[in-house]
Formats: sequence, structure tokens, C-alpha cells
Amino acid sequence: MSPLVNAAEIAEAARILRDGGLVAFPTETVYGLGADATSDRAVARVYEAKGRPTFNPLIVHVPDLAAAEKLGEFPAPARRLAEVFWPGPLTIVVPRRKDCPVSLLASAGLPSLALRVPAHPIAQGLLKAVDRPVVAPSANPSGRMSPTTAAHVRAGLGRKVDLILDGGACRVGVESTIVGFLGREPQLLRPGGIVREDIERVMGHRLATASAGDAPVAPGQLESHYAPHAALRLDAERRRSGEIYLGFGKRDGDRNLSPSGDLVEAAANLFRMLHELDETGTKSIAVAPIPHEGLGEAINDRLRRAAAPRSRE
Ligand code: TXA
Ligand code: MG
Repeated sequence: MSPLVNAAEIAEAARILRDGGLVAFPTETVYGLGADATSDRAVARVYEAKGRPTFNPLIVHVPDLAAAEKLGEFPAPARRLAEVFWPGPLTIVVPRRKDCPVSLLASAGLPSLALRVPAHPIAQGLLKAVDRPVVAPSANPSGRMSPTTAAHVRAGLGRKVDLILDGGACRVGVESTIVGFLGREPQLLRPGGIVREDIERVMGHRLATASAGDAPVAPGQLESHYAPHAALRLDAERRRSGEIYLGFGKRDGDRNLSPSGDLVEAAANLFRMLHELDETGTKSIAVAPIPHEGLGEAINDRLRRAAAPRSRE
């Protein structure tokens, strides 16, 4: 496995992940903050631990291409890149499969999925032992530098993590390169551990760069975010006629993000419930007020974006 981590520790880490806990683990790029990607609640805990003010979509880690193809639809050029560079510091964004079990919160409600097969032996061992897809953003508090040692993780996240697997320093030290296969041509969404030229050599052509004007755009902002078909009315104290009501705490409704007023539970339910209510074909969804503390900040941010006037449609 590794001189620093033994099989018993990997088994323990896998058990924690399957129970919905958080495990920091080394990859060849940076340390990741891992959680069960199929559990809304475990994914919500990741956002909480990082203190992210928004729900940026997370990268889903799997042990090999076969596992990745169970989650996403790979066009031929994406599969070709995967065959050449996986396992390794490359993340591929593809449309999510219809039967994909990954939490909608992990992809922030997007119909796409960022997939990565890390090369690090500890990451590989852990992913095989968990036998489930694992979300893993860099294991740092939001807005801080990505950790490349277990000590960085401990200093930044400390007790918010249930277990840290110490595999020493990360070899690459910068995050994975992200290439998106969603539009007509593939796009470089984030430069990283694999250089553009190596990817272009395999693809046989230049790679478009995602940018707005001259400035590169952070991948999370680039994607059009999930917006329901229905109009959203926020901070709604109660339901008006013709509306469907998404409740919170004591304000109950057609769905309730968290009857007990727990913001982690509310985050875990947010995208799934919005989808469910939207699928009823309603014209308007009213949403109860959500407190602005803790994960409430990210929930309100996402609701605001979902309620904003649409450029498409
Ligand atoms: O090297 C890495 O990729 C590390 C290690 C731990 O694997 N992970 C990492 O994750 O850097 P994170 O969460 O810090 O960065 C995820 C990036 C974000 O910029 C996000 O916007 C983008 O991936 N991303 C995730 N899902 C996406 C999607 N469906 N479409 C576009 N961008 C996406
Ligand atoms: Mg990061």
C-alpha cells in the first residue's frame, strides 16, 4: 500500500466513508476531503467542513474508467483521454448518466459530472475498499491554499475530519487538469497537473480554453447553474394560491428541507427537493426563509441564483 498507511487503516477509512463520515486522503495532486458521493448528507458535511459560501460542484473520484463509465456518458474522445491519462491528474467532465447514483448536491444540481481516477496508491486502495464513488475537494478551508501534506490538513480542518490518512507529501502539488466534454468541442476548464500540450497531442487538435473575455473563468462559475423551470419566490413566509411550498423548520410545506431546522440536512435535501417539486410541472415554487448562518449562506446563494431571471428559455 504505502510505507505510511497500512491495510487496516484503509479498511477503517473505508468504513468511516460508508458510514457517512469524512476522510482526508492523499492523491498525487493534493490531499482530498473525501465523502460518500452517493449520500446527500455526507456531501453536505463536506461543504460544511470547508465553510464554502457557495455550492461549487465537486469532483467524483473512482478507481478506474469502468467505474467512471457507470456514472457518466463518455464520448469517444473523452474515453481516449481517460485511457491515456488515467490513473493520473486529469479530471473529465461529462454528462451524468440517467441512472447515476451520485448525489445532486455533489454536482450542485448540474446535469454533468466531474470524474477523476487518481494514481496515488493510498487513494486507489481507499476507492477500491469503499466500492462507492467518493467526492473529494481539496482538503482545505474555503479560500485557503490546497494542502499537500497531512499536517496542512490537520492545521486547516483539524477535528472537522474523522480521519486523516498520512501518505507524506503529494508528488504533483497542484490540482488536476479539468477538461469538459459537454459542448461541441472539448474545453480546458482548469489548468493543472497534466499540461495542455500533452492533452492536445493525444486529441490531435488544439484545446479550447474556457474564458470570458480575456480572463479565465473558474469552472464552477462557467457552467450555467441549475435553474428550475418554475419561478422561485424566496423568503416566503407562507404559500400563496397556485404555488408549491418548500418549507424549512416549523414552516411546513409540500416538502420540508429540514423539519428540525438543521442546515446540514437542508443542504442535503436542497437540489433533490427542488428537482422533485419542479417535476410536478408547477409554475411557481415558494421557499421558506432560510437562516444565513453556517451552510445557510450557501443555500441562500444557490436559491438566489436559481431564482434569478433566466438568460436561456
Ligand atoms: O486534484 C484535484 O482535482 C483535487 C484532488 C483532491 O483530487 N480535487 C480538487 O477538487 O481540486 P476541488 O473541489 O477543489 O475542485 C473542483 C473543481 C471546481 O473548480 C469545480 O468548479 C469543478 O471542479 N467542477 C466540478 N464539477 C464540475 C462540473 N460538473 N462542471 C464543471 N466544473 C466542475
Ligand atoms: Mg480546491
